Amino acid sequence: LRHFLTTEGLSTELLTEILDTAESFVSVGKQAVKKVPLLRGKTVVNLFFEASTRTRTTFELAAKRLSADVLNIDISTSATSKGESLMDMLWNLEAMDSDMFVVRHQASGAPHFIAEHVTPSVAVINAGDGRHAHPTQAMLDMYTIRRHKGDFAKLNVAIVGDVLHSRVARSQVHALRGLNVGEVRVIGPKTLIPADFEGLGAKIYYDMAKGLKDVDVVIMLRLQKERMQSALLPSESEFYRLYGLTMEKLAFAKPDAIIMHPGPINRGVEIESAVADCSRSVILQQVNYGIAVRMAVLSMAMSGQTEVAAQEGGV
Ligand code: CP
Repeated sequence: LRHFLTTEGLSTELLTEILDTAESFVSVGKQAVKKVPLLRGKTVVNLFFEASTRTRTTFELAAKRLSADVLNIDISTSATSKGESLMDMLWNLEAMDSDMFVVRHQASGAPHFIAEHVTPSVAVINAGDGRHAHPTQAMLDMYTIRRHKGDFAKLNVAIVGDVLHSRVARSQVHALRGLNVGEVRVIGPKTLIPADFEGLGAKIYYDMAKGLKDVDVVIMLRLQKERMQSALLPSESEFYRLYGLTMEKLAFAKPDAIIMHPGPINRGVEIESAVADCSRSVILQQVNYGIAVRMAVLSMAMSGQTEVAAQEGGV
């Protein structure tokens, strides 16, 4: 890896290498080994221009378990509020010998823009941009699926809900296709399924009974009201009646199907509490695996970046 901006177009080998590397980190922090020294002397900067609980904290834990120094920039109290531009802020952080920027931004493409403008010695990791991509979330989801269900080729995976506004769904479909999953389906109302998903290799369903039939993995998505114009907002009660995952609808899936959600969950909107909290729900395991997966991405990007920078004379 050099930067990690998207799961689109990544080879099966690279996707598998990320999952295997994460596997090697999964016990770090839990047992006798509290830290590994792979990023000792490196500085990782978390730049979250949008709210986050899981992604920001697990990136911080991941970087600390790799022995990096971590800076969490509070955007609301940074000098951007005095008119400093994004790139001026980043060039100032570069001047402090930063090695990696972990970026979440409301604008699709912001991490790509930053990656094009930073010096060769700095790696950029996309922690979620607009509706476009959330590649580390997709990779922790792939890790969760492999850990609980095994061989991707034998699996049917359904992604349900507000696919239109979901950067997670798009990154998941790219990763699932890259890992040669048996079948990937998206299920939701016509207004919340983008037309291009069929072209990405997903089967589209508008009906839960048909879409969930024989699936091994059900991934629920949040209704992203903050990204919708009010006129297009579906009624929450109607959405829940048709697409909310209840025990009754879960019965359409295989009896051992696992339930996933990237979080934050909205109970009673896209998922019933009884489903979110049942023994087949792996929602909190996903959060935990996120640390090891982000350790994998940070360490692989850092070693790739060091190679590239050396070739370009950057270090
Ligand atoms: N899944 C996810 O991105 O959660 P946060 O917004 O809390 O980071």
